[in-house]
This record gives sequence, C-alpha cells and structure tokens, in this order.
Amino acid sequence: MPERPARVVLVGFMGAGKSAVGRRLARRLRYRFLDLDRRIEQRAGSRIAALFREQGEAAFRALEEDEARAVSALEAVVVATGGGAFVRPGTRALLQQGALTVWLKCSLEASLRRIKPDGSRPLAGNREIMRALLAEREPSYRQADFTVDTSSRTPREVVDRIVELIEGQRGTSVRP
Ligand code: S3P
Repeated sequence: MPERPARVVLVGFMGAGKSAVGRRLARRLRYRFLDLDRRIEQRAGSRIAALFREQGEAAFRALEEDEARAVSALEAVVVATGGGAFVRPGTRALLQQGALTVWLKCSLEASLRRIKPDGSRPLAGNREIMRALLAEREPSYRQADFTVDTSSRTPREVVDRIVELIEGQRGTSVRP
C-alpha cells in the first residue's frame, strides 16, 4: 500500500482556490503549508506584479522553477502553485516528483468571479484572454493525479474530497 504522500501539490488556474484550500488541507493533514508564489516573492524581495513588470515573465518562470526544485526536497508539505507552474514541463516534472498532484478544476465563470481586479495577477486579462489561457492550459493541468472541481464547492468541501482521495489511495485514514 502506498505511503502517505510526502507532498500534496495543488495545481490549476487563477482563482481555483489553491491557496485557500492548501492552507486548510495542510491543517487537516498536519503538514506544513507552502505557497510557491509567496516563496518567490520572498526570495526576489519583490511582488509578483513588479517582477513581471521589471524583469519579465521569463525571469519569473525561472524563479518558479527554482522554487519547485527547492520544494521537491521537502516532506510533509502541501504546496499551492501559481496558475502557470504546472504548464512548463521542467517545473511540472519537479512538482510531480514523489508528490500527489491535484488539479483544482474551476470553470471560467468561477475563476472570473473570484479574481480581484487589483493588479496583483499580471496575466489576468479580459474574459476572452482568460478563456483562451484556460483552454491552452487544461491539457497540462489534466496531467495531475487527481481532479477536484472547485467551481461550486467551498474550500472545506474541496479539502474533504482531497482527503477522501488520499484515503482511497492508501486504504487507511489520514485523520488524526
Ligand atoms: C500566474 C498565476 C499566479 C502567479 C502569476 C502567474 C499564471 O498565481 O503565479 O501571476 O501564470 O497563471 P495564482 O494562480 O495563484 O493566481
């Protein structure tokens, strides 16, 4: 029977709930919660929007890959990734290594509803831009081990579903 996963990695589009779910899931599993974007910001000493503006997306993606590599050495962690992390093959391979990956799937409507127009997400554009970006990325997200639709679930319901999936894989309870 497989061991409890060393890492649970949450992937998916902007607004899918990766951070909100990740924080709760970590508490439930008694794992540490890591947010890849926050780690990038800490390391760069700069907010994501400023990084994109001043250094460009390629520099951000390089930092993202570095953080994915650093995280791939850690145990008992839940990792929330940014919406583009699982799209780049190299970063995806690092995130998949020894981890259970979960695609938090979310409709375009739900994503648009949840994203605040506060300028913090440089790739969040109008509806047509977002529709095209989501369609382009879905084949990458689909490579996750499990999929949980978050469009009409609360973060707590999503966590319950992920825990069920982990338990199903292990055949035992992960609840303390
Ligand atoms: C991005 C999503 C963001 C952040 C960056 C790029 C993307 O994370 O990593 O703005 O490419 O979709 P969230 O998915 O948490 O918004």
